[in-house]
Formats: sequence, C-alpha cells, structure tokens
Amino acid sequence: MVFSWKNLDYPVVLCPPMDGITDNAFRELIASFGGSSVLYCEFVNVKGLIYQNSKTLFELRYTENQRPIIAQLFGNDPNDFFNAAQIIVKLGFDGIDINMGCPAHKVASKGSGCALMNKTDIAREIVRASIEGAKIAAKELKLAHDFEVSCKMRLGVDDKNKVLEHGIAMIEAGAKAIAIHGRTLKQMYSGHADWDVIRTFVQLKQHKYGDKVPVFGSGDVKSLYDAFVRILTTGVDGVMIGRGSFGKPWIFDRSKVDLLRYYVHLVEQKLDKKSGYITLEEIEQLDNINEIKLALENPSMSFDDIKSIVIRHARLMYDEKGDTGILQMRKHLGWYFHGFEGAKSLRSRLVRVKTLEEVENALDSYSSNLQDE
Ligand SMILES: Cc1cc2nc3c(=O)[nH]c(=O)nc-3n(C[C@H](O)[C@H](O)[C@H](O)COP(=O)(O)O)c2cc1C
Repeated sequence: MVFSWKNLDYPVVLCPPMDGITDNAFRELIASFGGSSVLYCEFVNVKGLIYQNSKTLFELRYTENQRPIIAQLFGNDPNDFFNAAQIIVKLGFDGIDINMGCPAHKVASKGSGCALMNKTDIAREIVRASIEGAKIAAKELKLAHDFEVSCKMRLGVDDKNKVLEHGIAMIEAGAKAIAIHGRTLKQMYSGHADWDVIRTFVQLKQHKYGDKVPVFGSGDVKSLYDAFVRILTTGVDGVMIGRGSFGKPWIFDRSKVDLLRYYVHLVEQKLDKKSGYITLEEIEQLDNINEIKLALENPSMSFDDIKSIVIRHARLMYDEKGDTGILQMRKHLGWYFHGFEGAKSLRSRLVRVKTLEEVENALDSYSSNLQDE
C-alpha cells in the first residue's frame, strides 16, 4: 500500500529516529509490538548516501515488517538532498524525513541538523530539492504516486518561538508532516520539553492549513497516559516516545495504543470540544479517569516476560551485527531490569557481556536463583 501521512489512523504514537538506538534490530523488535504507526531509521548523512558509504548503507537496511519505514537525512546542501532523495526512493523507503533537530556539535557546526532552523531559506530549498529528487526517482521507477517528505525539528536554536515561523515555512515548501521536539538546541536534553509552544504551533498550523499536515510532539513522554494527556491538551496528531521506550519496547503494544486512541476519541466527544482545547483540569475531572490511567500507565512486567523480550532483542542484535551487536546491546541490557530483587547485580553482569551466550546464561542463572528462593 502506498504510504501517505494522511492515511494513518490518528492520533498516532511513534518511535522517533534515534541515532545509536533505532537500528535494524531495535526497529524489528518495535515492529513486533505493532503500535508505532511508522518507523524511522537512525539519521544518515546525505553525503554518506551519495558516496555509497558502507556504514550508511548498512544503517539503511530494513525488513518488510518495518513498513511504513522512513529514512531520516541530515546535511546542509540542497543539491545533496536532491541526489540523496533519489537514492532513498530507489532503496524502497516509504518516506523521507529531514533532520532539523540534531544539536550535536559535529552536525550543527556544519550548518546541518538544528542549525538549519536559523537558515530557513536553505531549509526551504532542502525540502523542495528532496521533493524534486524523489519525484524524478519515482518517475524513473514508474511509481504512480507522490513520495512524501516530512521534517523533524526542535523549537529553535536559542529562540523557542522560532519553530512558529520555521515550521510553517517548511509546510509552505511542501513538508507533509512536522515533528517537534519541545526543546531548543541550546537546551540539548536539559530541562523540560515545552509543550505550550508545541500547542501554539498546532493552533497556528490549524488556522492556516487545517488537518492537511499532521503535527507530532516529542519530549519527555514516558507512558501512553502521558501521550493521552499531551494529545488532548495540545491538539497534536500524535506523540513520539523516545527515551521512555528504553528498556520498555512494549510501550508500543498495539492493543494499548488502540486503547489510547479509543480514549482520546471518547474524551473529545464527551467534552464536545475540538482537540487542543482540553485542559489538564478537565481531564483530571473525568468520571473514568482512574480506568484510563490504569489502562494506559506502563504495565508492570514479570521477570520472565522481560527475559523473553530481551533474548529476542539480543538475538536480533547478534543476527544483525554478530558480537559487535552484543556489545552495542549492553546499554539496552542496563535499561531493561529495574525493581527486581538483585536487579543491580544482574545489571552489572549484563553490562559486561561479550556474547549472546553470556546474555542467555546471565538471565538463566538469575531465573534459577529466583526459583530457588
Ligand atoms: C540517543 C538519542 C538519539 C537521537 N537521535 C535522533 C536522530 O537521529 N534524529 C532525530 O530527529 N532525533 C533524534 N533524537 C531525538 C529524539 O527523536 C526525541 O525527539 C528526543 O529524544 C525527545 O524525546 P524523548 O524525551 O521521548 O526522548 C535522539 C534522541 C536520543 C535520546
């Protein structure tokens, strides 16, 4: 089926692009839970793509289970995006996202990532060049549909209201979806994400373009209940859950996300208000608020449930990258186990594993200790 941001079942929950996290194995795991409406690869440099860098191409491997699958690109030159977009279409991706949010010095100091928010004219050209490049490749492949380009940005470089002008400019240039992380570049990951500015952007976008271009919010969402509150109080069409999914990939469980959608529609009908105008107080006074919280707060998982997910994740990592995958898996292993008797010593063993067998042995010996007690 042809992908279009228009055709998703809203509101959506999305696993955002995360460098060093959303690799092929992690995406495969998230896809198996079914609740993230699209998946994004880790961001890749447009030049790496144009020069067919082997690491770049490796990062762009995906499986059919992961569709709709979006490639996220970073760079600073519209001409590179024109060429890179053609390659992305030929690699069979469903969409292209342009990174306008990365705060890392090695990216932003070159005028890429979030630095583009202070160069709206170049960013506009980048969006147009990507659309044009994609169109040419789609024509060559005889695809009968338009290929969509989206943007993910922060609030600004140091001015948190910059997104109001920059985000609208990207829509005018042709972006078909806008995702906003509610922090400035200067903030990096400190402080709280500012969802008030995200709400203001939604209202502005709604006034100019109605429902045509969805807006997604990102920042500090730790549960589907947080997602429920953010959707209702800001009017976003969906939220991204990044760090809140570390060690909790089941947060993207499809049946729970369906429930979130059901409750959002129910509350919107009940309060008879257009989304975006519901206050936190109104939400907290709902008759069934306890039922909603119970349904959408993070579930408590048994050790055995987590163990089987971790082994699946570790096997995917091993299949993808061999022992290097297990070394990269250490950070995930550290995130998975909390709140169990002896979890600290298990974590300290897991963050030193070198092979898949060591992961399995560590978990098995922890399980048998539990059974002996
Ligand atoms: C380790 C890490 C890597 C990230 N890499 C990317 C990236 O490649 N592209 C991007 O647009 N955002 C990236 N982000 C930002 C996230 O997509 C997200 O917007 C941000 O973490 C805020 O959401 P959260 O509080 O749910 O984590 C990254 C974040 C983290 C923590």
